[in-house]
Amino acid sequence: MGSVSLKIGDGTARFKRASVCSSAVNLLMLFSVIITNIFAFYAFTYSPKELHHHHNPKDISLISEKVSIILREIESSKKKLAQMEKDLLGFDTIDLSKPNIPNELKIFLDHHELPLGKDSRTGITEMVASVGHSCGKSEDLLSQYMNYKVNGLCPDDWSLGQKLILRGCEPLPRRRCFAKTIPKVGLQSFPPSLWKNVSEKIYSWSGIKCKNLSCLNSKKLNRDCAGCFDIVNGYETQRYVKTRGKNDFLIDDVLAMGSGGIRVGFDIGGGSGTFAARMAERNVTVVTGTLNIDAPFNEFIAARGIFPLYLSLDHRFPFYDNVFDLVHAGNGLDVGARPEKLEFLMFDIDRILRAGGLFWLDNFYCSNEDKKKDLTRLIERFGYKKLKWIVGEKINGSGKSEVYLSAVLQKPVRVRL
Ligand SMILES: *[C@@H]1O[C@H](CO)[C@@H](O)[C@H](O)[C@H]1NC(C)=O
Ligand SMILES: *[C@@H]1O[C@H](CO)[C@@H](O)[C@H](O)[C@H]1NC(C)=O
Ligand SMILES: *[C@@H]1O[C@H](CO)[C@@H](O)[C@H](O)[C@H]1NC(C)=O
Ligand SMILES: *[C@@H]1O[C@H](CO)[C@@H](O)[C@H](O)[C@H]1NC(C)=O
Repeated sequence: MGSVSLKIGDGTARFKRASVCSSAVNLLMLFSVIITNIFAFYAFTYSPKELHHHHNPKDISLISEKVSIILREIESSKKKLAQMEKDLLGFDTIDLSKPNIPNELKIFLDHHELPLGKDSRTGITEMVASVGHSCGKSEDLLSQYMNYKVNGLCPDDWSLGQKLILRGCEPLPRRRCFAKTIPKVGLQSFPPSLWKNVSEKIYSWSGIKCKNLSCLNSKKLNRDCAGCFDIVNGYETQRYVKTRGKNDFLIDDVLAMGSGGIRVGFDIGGGSGTFAARMAERNVTVVTGTLNIDAPFNEFIAARGIFPLYLSLDHRFPFYDNVFDLVHAGNGLDVGARPEKLEFLMFDIDRILRAGGLFWLDNFYCSNEDKKKDLTRLIERFGYKKLKWIVGEKINGSGKSEVYLSAVLQKPVRVRL
């Protein structure tokens, strides 16, 4: 048994490549089923003649012992069969032979042999669908997610899908049902769409506590989004074009540092899409990566005429190496506990940024001195040129001073050693 690992993002599902011709395996399975059934048949029809003549308790105990041996045999055949089915389906992390696994999940994950055998370019012999390897950890939720009517309407369960993603089940499996549609009435043309309210009825509010935009705007949804859905009167209209403190940089100043070569960018954890909107006004295309945590971020961004990317930060960026002129990130970068986690993320950012491209770290909150030191050390290890580097303090709502780091860094050309 060889092992093929298909990587789609970091959601890696491991598949075993069946080295035996699969029809042989099928035959073996059929054989095993027949044997199991013969045992069962034997168990239920076995009635030795002696039994009818003298009901010797010793005989009876002998018989019941035999029956239990047979039953054990059946049990072990069943287990073997389950193991064979598992091997045949070839998943290490999701046990598809379990009885409560929805059929749709099995069908989705079923691998298909290539009609012409081995593909000479890629060397693969079969097509496999991919799901995050951690999906197996949330089998109950996954089964719930894959329980739907084929060709029918999907349950209104996007938040169930997001829950799975947040547990590392990314990518999710595909489904054969129609996602809930919401009439997108009153969409504006581009570019006026960047700063226009649309009816909040065009967003999906299921699974979200707030049911309207004014509710969202009254909340601090995260460090980079307090009232960020008010794109008509709110602070959003000033972001990146007016500064509130030395940690805020103006978008035009940063673009000037790129000396005209900034055309495509990626905004990590980009809130309601205001960064991309300001960039769109300057003819720079920015993809805004965000999940829908507590708010319909993706739909809102799309309604503004901007490209939303629904992806968790644990997922390897679905972009090729060296393609972006600019990466912008705020507190989305705060990926928590282990420093290695931030390191993996930083290496991925570095990977998609081209040499000479800019990494704009925007008002990153350093909860303590160690955090600031760790991040600084990490950034310095990448050898970026510090075009701007500001460590500033802000007084927060409770009168406490908080430390923020803002920087514009330029990726160097690295020469292979
Ligand atoms: C918005 O939703 C909140 C609760 O989520 C509610 O109290 C409020 O009345 C709603 N406002 C409007 C204008 O519908
Ligand atoms: C736009 O929506 C916000 C709530 O997000 C609201 O406060 C504001 O009055 C609306 N503006 C217009 C012009 O409708
Ligand atoms: C953006 O592109 C349009 C069309 O090419 C052009 O008219 C406009 O001046 C550009 N805007 C900026 C800020 O470069
Ligand atoms: C202000 O900062 C302090 C210390 O970091 C923190 O405990 C408090 O929750 C913050 N208050 C607000 C309103 O953010």
